[in-house]
Amino acid sequence: MSRTSRKREHIEHALTTGQSGTHGLEDVKFVHNCLPDIDYEQVDRHTTIGGLALSSPIVVNAMTGGASETYTINQSLGMLAHEAGMALAVGSQMAAIKDPSLVETYRIARREHPHGILFGNLGAEATPEMALRAVDMIEADALQIHLNVMQELIMPEGERNFSGALRRIEAIVAALEVPVIVKEVGFGMSREAAEKLASCGVAAIDVGGRGGTNFARIENMRRTQPFDILNEWGISTAVSLLEVTQLEERIDVMATGGIRTGLDVARCLALGASCVGMAGAFLRYAVHGEMQEAIEYVRGLHKELTVIMTALGASSIPSLQRVPLVVTGDAYHWAAQRGID
Ligand code: FNR
Repeated sequence: MSRTSRKREHIEHALTTGQSGTHGLEDVKFVHNCLPDIDYEQVDRHTTIGGLALSSPIVVNAMTGGASETYTINQSLGMLAHEAGMALAVGSQMAAIKDPSLVETYRIARREHPHGILFGNLGAEATPEMALRAVDMIEADALQIHLNVMQELIMPEGERNFSGALRRIEAIVAALEVPVIVKEVGFGMSREAAEKLASCGVAAIDVGGRGGTNFARIENMRRTQPFDILNEWGISTAVSLLEVTQLEERIDVMATGGIRTGLDVARCLALGASCVGMAGAFLRYAVHGEMQEAIEYVRGLHKELTVIMTALGASSIPSLQRVPLVVTGDAYHWAAQRGID
């Protein structure tokens, strides 16, 4: 199976049965504030991640590049990020590191988003030299390193040796001048993993929680003998946020995994995330070239978030991060057993 046809299959399945499960955010309840003492017009949605200033707390997260049809997808996503004032991540650049003729399928994102925040992306098998090339390739403002152990294990042609990842991440952090963001791809992140990443100098983590695009299902659809028992593997987005937002060593957190509405965004920020990432929700628009609809969707998300911030009396993202919350259901029981306040 070539890397190119794998990418095509990922996109095809991500648009169909590859979306599943629950992100757990329904267990997170806001305490309504009937005296918010705030003006809707003054609500400020600016935020920061890893020292980078973002005008929207919604990031178009890593998806693609490499295969020929991904050129137009990255072009559309670049246009969307530019028009809606969002940061954008390209998909794994390993294809272009191995075959430089593919560089344009990533660089188009920078051309469409010339002054915006752009994240590069590689896996934890990358060397510092590859990381430098990935950043140069698209003039990236930060580099994402993805962790996708369960996806690789279910993928028939996937990697089986995961030793040394933390050491390589540490070397990449030391070699780059831009911040490094370590992300999961939909199986979530524990406090223990986040602590290790924080201690090796990573600027931010993206929990990439269970509840949205499901790479266990996607890879199982590509297998002749599926490993279906693993289809619901992972830590939900809500629970991942509970896990990683109370580390002693502070680290910025991005929340990805099934984010679809302004209420999802608000709940993630209130749980302590600095911004959210969305991938699957934007893919359909990009594949079908419906970018005006995508821009309207993002405007709607911004409006929903602003309404919720107003109702809660939170005039900025830092004040939203401090509003009172009640955690119920599975997330409550998880937090209690794991000793999370
Ligand atoms: C992804 N994702 C991803 N992540 C990454 O770090 N590098 C990559 O190359 C890819 N490739 C990729 C392809 C496709 C088609 C999709 C849908 C997703 C994972 C993505 O960034 C995100 O972490 C997950 O999709 C979970 O977010 P959503 O889709 O639930 O919003």
